[in-house]
Amino acid sequence: MNRTNPKKFRVKSFGCQMNVYDGERMSEMLVDQGMSNADEGEDADLVVLNTCHIREKAAEKVYSDIGRLRGKDGKSPMIAVAGCVAQAEGKEISRRAPSVDIVVGPQAYHRLPELIDRAKSGKKALDTDMPANSKFDVLPGRKKQARPTAFLTVQEGCDKFCTYCVVPYTRGAEISRPWSDLIAEAQALVDGGVKEITLLGQNVNAWSSNDDTGKKQGLDGLIRRLNEIDGLERIRYTTSHANDMTDALIAAHGDVPKLMPYLHLPVQSGSDPILKAMNRSHSAEEYLKILRRIRDVRPDIAISGDFIVGFPGETDADFEETLSVVREANYAQAYSFKYSPRPGTPAAVMENQIPPEVTNERLQRLQALLNEQQYDFNKQALGRQTDILLERNGKLDGQLVGKTPWLQSVHIIAPELAIGDMVDVTIESAGPNSLQGKLTQREAA
Ligand code: 5AD
Ligand code: SF4
Repeated sequence: MNRTNPKKFRVKSFGCQMNVYDGERMSEMLVDQGMSNADEGEDADLVVLNTCHIREKAAEKVYSDIGRLRGKDGKSPMIAVAGCVAQAEGKEISRRAPSVDIVVGPQAYHRLPELIDRAKSGKKALDTDMPANSKFDVLPGRKKQARPTAFLTVQEGCDKFCTYCVVPYTRGAEISRPWSDLIAEAQALVDGGVKEITLLGQNVNAWSSNDDTGKKQGLDGLIRRLNEIDGLERIRYTTSHANDMTDALIAAHGDVPKLMPYLHLPVQSGSDPILKAMNRSHSAEEYLKILRRIRDVRPDIAISGDFIVGFPGETDADFEETLSVVREANYAQAYSFKYSPRPGTPAAVMENQIPPEVTNERLQRLQALLNEQQYDFNKQALGRQTDILLERNGKLDGQLVGKTPWLQSVHIIAPELAIGDMVDVTIESAGPNSLQGKLTQREAA
């Protein structure tokens, strides 16, 4: 079937923040090609599904989404499957879902315009290469941003090969983007109205590059340099690995004013035998020691993490170890998942897969404890005065939602303010998932 030239597109991103970033870069590129973003409710003639392969449920979602795109008349827009499902399943996608026109992996999406041209002539277009020349060298420069917060991918891929994880296969080997490119992109984002930048990488704290003088820099050096950008007010980074938490990065948490007091540092399990089977290459105690060191330099830091329950071979005793690490770490926030066997990963073929009812019960117990810790952390904010960066409108009239330095959402009623304002609030009430505040003082103009 020949296709007409797509004019209106929609990019739907699933999964991690890096997919959100990739989705934004794809949108900016399509706009550069003369297309425009379809408004809410408006039909698009090109839909890009930017997919996630991390767990089975996420990966299956793409097929139900494709089914939903077919209109009542049987016609569907041009469909591109991008992201990690595209990388992992490649041709299999067109076989399972013939209405898909384009399959494009996360390292090849800068070639989307050529793939669209190919699809227009009725041919299937597939590109899951991991080319040597980076997409970042080809993508158009950053545009004015609609929001005051932005992601900036500094590092991609992973060489750690945790035994449950697809990332080393879908995102490829670890690469760090060059120093000068990142400073330029950060500056362009700030020039476009951004006040907060979150540096992204699957192993963000493994980032390293030579600076302009040829000196080797780690993530701490990059953060210190970004701290000098006028107009940039907040810096965050995610996701980190315990083994790359250097002394210099820990020190940065103590003395870089714009680096926010929040650290996402997954441990996955609190049991040493399970950590070993996961190939995490650190012990539970080594992880806890890092948290103690970081709290020494930044006592108020909010710690976040990721957990997998029901990893093959996990005993009741292993799971109890996880609960005890959680008690000691005392999280401000955390994500926990049921282990999901992923094709091609070593853990998928391990013996002693855990029955779902055991995994479910463990997940519930872990989440109850994590929720309690999160609520406690929020309650500590009661009566506190803090700055928040307003990010979006709330559901109520005149309501805005902003984030504290510790990444908690705060709702305030302040019709005179706008998204992008940084304001001082006093926290009046705390719920399990968010805070309510009132304005303490207007931002100086
Ligand atoms: N099953 C369950 N959770 C997983 N994660 C990664 N792979 C799997 C898997 N196979 C979780 C880890 C990781 C987060 C992004 O997703 O906790 O930190
Ligand atoms: Fe996956 Fe482990 Fe790499 Fe994280 S560090 S992306 S969990 S392999």
